Amino acid sequence: MAILVTGGLGYIGSHTVVELQKSGFEVVIVDDLSNSERFILENIEKVSGTAPVFYPFDLKRRELLSQLLDAHTIEGCINFAAYKAVGESQVIPLDYYENNLVTLINLLQEFKERNISNFIFSSSCTVYGQADHMPIDESAPLKAPESSYGKTKQMGEQILMDFAQAHEKKVSLLRYFNPIGAHPSALLGELPIGIPNNLVPYVTQTAAGIRESLSIFGSDYPTKDGTAVRDYIYVVDLARAHVAALQKLLSETEPTAVDIYNLGTGEGSSVLEIVKTFERANNVSVPYAITGRREGDITIAYADASKAEKELNWKASTPLDQALKTTWAWQQYLESRSANQ
Ligand code: NAD
Ligand code: WQD
Repeated sequence: MAILVTGGLGYIGSHTVVELQKSGFEVVIVDDLSNSERFILENIEKVSGTAPVFYPFDLKRRELLSQLLDAHTIEGCINFAAYKAVGESQVIPLDYYENNLVTLINLLQEFKERNISNFIFSSSCTVYGQADHMPIDESAPLKAPESSYGKTKQMGEQILMDFAQAHEKKVSLLRYFNPIGAHPSALLGELPIGIPNNLVPYVTQTAAGIRESLSIFGSDYPTKDGTAVRDYIYVVDLARAHVAALQKLLSETEPTAVDIYNLGTGEGSSVLEIVKTFERANNVSVPYAITGRREGDITIAYADASKAEKELNWKASTPLDQALKTTWAWQQYLESRSANQ
């Protein structure tokens, strides 16, 4: 029996594979390497001591998925595979709908035919838009997302709820807040391709001198220091939540279940706090300039993650400065890797 991890060589997927292996699960990865690299597979083995089975194919190719499922007994799936760049999704929306939804439907069609249950979906706090109340719990109303990326997450959730009801399946929708950091070994982390969109990779590359200066998008928000506030969750804490969510699904005795959890720390940090904490934690400087707001950005979002704590016995525990230290160590690793190539 194995767990299928799609996008398992990606940022959150690779950390989750290691945590699954540590908990005794056998893992089969599918990843088309569209946003990852093969060395991540070797590094997973270096960290965990076990090589996961790996299939390099695009999940839009249902026939290849079908062959994989003929070859392995799969008892559940964690579906990370998706495109995730919010801005890009506005430029090439069809590619986002196709990649994020066709892959999901292919998986669910195969699972329906083979009667495989226990499906975990990577959703996002983006489904809440700008919530009216903080912290955000799972009952907060969903708002129409601005981006096509965000829409794929809302649609994915709806598809999974229908799948669970119609076919008596157990699913878990995990709404991540803002994942940051890298593995403590510095062998796994985020691989931003091109100019990073997300704050922490941009801060890291600025500290490293790859980018000249960080643009802080807006200092006129109604927040503690005028910059926007988010809930930054350490990626290994996030990975552990997947193992807990999977164990809960596997132990569920009812044939149908839809679990929904917010995964965050419960703490909001401003952009300036991230910059200052990064500088202090790593003893580096991050040149920055305040610029205008970024279109589509919300003011504030942080999670009420008490449902996950209660039902999954899970809590994010890594302090922000420690998470930001791992990001810097990962940056040093990437630089030494490229220097040796
Ligand atoms: P990532 O890009 O690092 O990982 C996704 C992986 O999926 C990549 O390795 C990519 O090569 C693979 N992939 C993409 N399309 C594929 C396809 N058609 N077939 C096979 N493999 C494919 O992204 P991540 O940050 O690890 O995010 C994982 C999931 O979590 C995504 O679904 C993302 O939308 C969601 N999520 C991410 C964040 C975040 O800020 N990182 C926040 C909320 C939700
Ligand atoms: C955080 C804050 C920016 C870059 C996005 C997606 C969301 C989820 C997580 C997947 C914001 C500010 C950023 C920079 C800045 N992903 N910032 N200068 O926007 O909260 O969420 O990633 O599901 O769906 O929308 O994260 O890291 O881009 O930005 O000032 O160069 O940092 O304005 O306030 P965001 P982020």
